[in-house]
Amino acid sequence: MDRRSYIKALGASGAALTLAGCTGNGGGDTSTTSSSTTGGTTSSSSGQTAITAGTAPGFKPFEMIQDGELVGFDVDLLEAVVEQADGYTLDGWQQYEFGSLIQSLSTNKIDVIAAGMTITDKRKEQIAFTDSYWEANQSILVRSGSSYQPGSLDDLAGHKVGAQSGTTGETLVQNKIDDGTLQESNYNAYPKYPLAISDLENGNIDAVVIDTPVAKTFVDSRDVTIATTIDTGENYGFGIRKNESDLESALNSGLGSVKDNGTYDDLKVKWFASGDN
Ligand code: ARG
Repeated sequence: MDRRSYIKALGASGAALTLAGCTGNGGGDTSTTSSSTTGGTTSSSSGQTAITAGTAPGFKPFEMIQDGELVGFDVDLLEAVVEQADGYTLDGWQQYEFGSLIQSLSTNKIDVIAAGMTITDKRKEQIAFTDSYWEANQSILVRSGSSYQPGSLDDLAGHKVGAQSGTTGETLVQNKIDDGTLQESNYNAYPKYPLAISDLENGNIDAVVIDTPVAKTFVDSRDVTIATTIDTGENYGFGIRKNESDLESALNSGLGSVKDNGTYDDLKVKWFASGDN
């Protein structure tokens, strides 16, 4: 990199950090933005393309609202990755319900999804993903001290179950409805996982199916415990529109650099107390 582009890159990363510092609306509600450019990539005269990220807070430690600010592993990771991605800058974050992220991407409201989103064949019919940046399984959460201790998805039969709308956790529950194990009326879909956890604590439902790393943070902060873990072997990737091969390769090489230069490991330690998932 020559001196001029080095200074330009410094300036760009400074801007991204400043914007990141003032994201969030305090309530974690949908469709808010701190960015001046709404969706659709914009090329500036410097040749840098500004992209807007979308996420769905309420998924700690990947993305959540803390002191009115959007923070989390995904937020830090994507910002670090874009800093290393040649030709792109991040101009801000928008928040949506998880179940509307793919549509928001497809309609150019955002340019990249960073939301602990599992790479699935079904989603790949609609969007593309970067390389994986995290591996996760699903867990079944129950109330602390509950005598109900499901050891498998089949044990959900006859109980009220919750999951977040549009997630792979919901798909697992849906499969059990489809094969007749669970009654449709026993499934509650929630716009955010924290609401499902509150209903679990209140006794309105008996179990929540949720990604294991996030289940662990609820165990630490709420009156719930992991009954069992289902080995789903999911991989999280950043979601982008199909046919954006420049952005895809820039993000993948950015991800590679962030892994190579130690930033990825630093962020893991920062957001996951034990440094593992
Ligand atoms: N990994 C799961 C999925 O892809 C859940 C992701 C939920 N993410 C969130 N930010 N609420 O469906």
